[in-house]
Amino acid sequence: KPVYILNGPNLNLLGQRQPEIYGHETLADVESMCRRAAAGLGLDIRFHQSNAEHQIIDWIHEARQGADGIIINPAALTHTSVAILDALNACDCPVLEVHISNVHRREAFRHHSYVSLRADGVIAGCGTQGYVLALERLATLLGRQHS
Ligand code: DQA
Repeated sequence: KPVYILNGPNLNLLGQRQPEIYGHETLADVESMCRRAAAGLGLDIRFHQSNAEHQIIDWIHEARQGADGIIINPAALTHTSVAILDALNACDCPVLEVHISNVHRREAFRHHSYVSLRADGVIAGCGTQGYVLALERLATLLGRQHS
């Protein structure tokens, strides 16, 4: 089964929005980087972004049945969404939370994550490389070669 990589609000603007915080790479760049890394790890991915909370929840419901793992950057919904936490709590597969920026070095409201209550691992402040690190971790958790 594939691994779902889900991205929340405003990440469609990656590369344009606050590049001093999020860098110059676009989400399309992140997707190709993930596709390359996943291929090397023998993982198949579905890569999605939405600005709508309900869409993210629908993809998590889809992943609940159809995915081996979930990598999620819920963006601002990290700090607000009990609904995304509840959806992830309905899933049995490994869940990894990714933040491009180091949220702990930023405003206090970014220090709390609802999603972390469910996540098996959290990667923050490693830039877009965090997605690749999450894929490698997932491969380990799924018993694929990489460690
Ligand atoms: C983010 C951090 C969040 O606090 C912020 O709302 C985002 C992106 C990150 O990847 O660093 O939109 O999840």
